[in-house]
Amino acid sequence: MAAVRILQLTDLHVFKDPGVRLKGIPTRELLEDVVRHIIDSGRNFDHVVVTGDHTHDEMPQSYQAVRTILSPWLDRLWQVPGNHDDRTVLRSVFGDRIRGSGQEQINFSFNAGGWLCLGIDTHVPGSVSGKIEPDQINWIRQQIDLVNPERVALFQHHPPVDVGSFWMDSIGLEGKERLQNLFLEEHRIQLVCCGHVHHEFHGHAGNAHICTTPATGIQFSPAGTQATFVAEPPGYRVIELTDDGFFTNVCRLPVTRFSPDN
Ligand SMILES: [Fe+2]
Repeated sequence: MAAVRILQLTDLHVFKDPGVRLKGIPTRELLEDVVRHIIDSGRNFDHVVVTGDHTHDEMPQSYQAVRTILSPWLDRLWQVPGNHDDRTVLRSVFGDRIRGSGQEQINFSFNAGGWLCLGIDTHVPGSVSGKIEPDQINWIRQQIDLVNPERVALFQHHPPVDVGSFWMDSIGLEGKERLQNLFLEEHRIQLVCCGHVHHEFHGHAGNAHICTTPATGIQFSPAGTQATFVAEPPGYRVIELTDDGFFTNVCRLPVTRFSPDN
């Protein structure tokens, strides 16, 4: 099997008003920079996954702007919500990509060679933290039983392990032990790609390699006891799934055009 190449974008935080900045960072403009950088790289992707926080204000116009910017990949786009998302509005703008209705959870499932890729909804309305419930663990098990893949990759907003940052871990994932126990049991789950923490992190649980990915806009520092923003370039993750395993790396834009206000 040729490698299946996946692009992960996360934490777009786009506003309805194109001129509005998040702590001094023009998130819409930087998302446009990221998409241009990827297209100019000449790399093609079989799938594009957005792991949440599509917008910052959860307005329909903001989701529409995201849709327009991601239009090169609408035929291969997969999405899960983050804390800065509204499932109903996200669905209304991406109705051709997202099944179900209203506030129902937004999960996805697709095959990539011998791999099964699953998107897990960790969103809790009105909460910065996420949650994973026992019925979602059952859904993951059912999907794996149904497809019987060689390997499994998960995509979700909130990471299923602590990332070693006091302030980020305090807004983490309730019920993450449920996922960690699943990883100990189900060794075919080998990769978990997350967002939420706006910086790169790597960890392990069971047989799963867990990574987080820089935001397309504002970047966070794990240091300190409260939210801290850093001047680093936007980033995204490239994932290649093969018969033997996976390869993944973060790509950053070559320049830091804006510095955040702290
Ligand atoms: Fe975010």
